[in-house]
Amino acid sequence: VITEDEVQAMKGLTQGLWTQGDYDEFAKLTWGAAPALIEACGVGPGTKVLDVGAGNGNVAVCAARAGASVVASDLTPAQVARGSARTQAEKLDVEWIEADAEDLPFTDGRFDRVFTAFSAMYAPRPERVASELCRVVRDGGVVGMANWTPEGFLGTINSISEKHSPPLFNEAPTAGDWGIPEIAQARFGPHAKRIRTEIKTLVYNFDSVEAFWAFLRKTHGPLIVAHEYLEADVIRAMVAEIDELFVERNRSQDGRFVVDVDYLLIVAEVP
Ligand SMILES: C[S@@+](CC[C@H](N)C(=O)[O-])C[C@H]1O[C@@H](n2cnc3c(N)ncnc32)[C@H](O)[C@@H]1O
Repeated sequence: VITEDEVQAMKGLTQGLWTQGDYDEFAKLTWGAAPALIEACGVGPGTKVLDVGAGNGNVAVCAARAGASVVASDLTPAQVARGSARTQAEKLDVEWIEADAEDLPFTDGRFDRVFTAFSAMYAPRPERVASELCRVVRDGGVVGMANWTPEGFLGTINSISEKHSPPLFNEAPTAGDWGIPEIAQARFGPHAKRIRTEIKTLVYNFDSVEAFWAFLRKTHGPLIVAHEYLEADVIRAMVAEIDELFVERNRSQDGRFVVDVDYLLIVAEVP
């Protein structure tokens, strides 16, 4: 059982991780899940949408472009700043707010659709997350969630990073469980009448493995923070293991870096 102090420490760390780097660039790697969630859950003009852990707003942007009235939220103030600049520049109907997925500052049933992509999976208390996401959706509404699968490319990078990091350096040691269909079903079970899951795949395509590393070093907050805080030999071992994974999963034959990135799409219908 984690203590309240540990929970607060993890959330402080999470905010630090996602403040660093260039999330506007990194979000190009998560974009594909946004239209998939919108399509799977159904969003149209006037749909009231909440995006939880919105980052710089991929799902929020996708929903607003479909005509929805959107509230986007994230634990990290820097992400809220990036996202609101993005949606203002696009003149989209999105209101931004700082919020924790475990304690959403909204009344029961306020939204038609609640989404979270690669975000609420990192909150330390998964049962609270499932309950909060379902609480703020109206009767008959839908919660859509996207989570890296533990054996997939991103899920494996997360486990390698966790293995090399001190426990409190991890955002949530059990994040990978959210990518397992049976566990996701069990977590939403008490709050939903029907839960569908599907493994989907994004494809990353870079000029080379080195180009992908350069992209990550520039954009990915957690990797940048790891370089600042972990001992040099720990970082070296971690990077070497991740690099092996890149070579092993690369399906390009011509020097490019092309990799499949699996995630679990969850659609939970609230009674
Ligand atoms: C990998 S990013 C994903 C962002 C975006 N949804 C996307 O698809 O690109 C993870 C985000 O989750 C947010 N996050 C982590 N823990 C959270 C929590 N407990 N409540 C809300 N947001 C959280 C982080 O601040 C970060 O912006």
